[in-house]
Amino acid sequence: MPSILILNGPNLNLLGTRQPEVYGRETLEMVEQSCKDHAVKLGLTVECLQSNHEGILLDAIHDARDTHSGLVLNAGAYTHSSIALMDAIFSVELPAVEVHLSNIHAREEFRQKSYISKAVIGQICGFGSFGYLMALDALARRLLPTRGPGA
Ligand code: DQA
Repeated sequence: MPSILILNGPNLNLLGTRQPEVYGRETLEMVEQSCKDHAVKLGLTVECLQSNHEGILLDAIHDARDTHSGLVLNAGAYTHSSIALMDAIFSVELPAVEVHLSNIHAREEFRQKSYISKAVIGQICGFGSFGYLMALDALARRLLPTRGPGA
């Protein structure tokens, strides 16, 4: 069964209480559980990791090359600043999907630039936690073409 690494970056550990009007009321634990439940239906397994530290996220992406078949990444504010995370995704050559809970294109100008988007299959934003499930659908279609949704 292909395994997907779901990576969440800085401040996403505060989901549920952090600006709920922007990021929703679900906790990260709830979002991760929904991903695990959805993955089972798709024939995927998932591992979830959150870190507030760029280096830990980088190491996790590097390690994923040998242990996972794809990545789902919400890099939080590092999205808008981290050339290192972009380079890491390019380097490991795993299919990756970028997720944001909020619609970053409808927010402040500094959020509208994503370095991550240059290295991924596609970006999903603005759909809240449902975006993570859509990202898993996209990876299932890529990795299990005969089992993905609609196949
Ligand atoms: C975010 C959007 C980023 O701009 C912000 O820094 C976050 C969360 C989102 O999920 O909408 O931390 O990635």
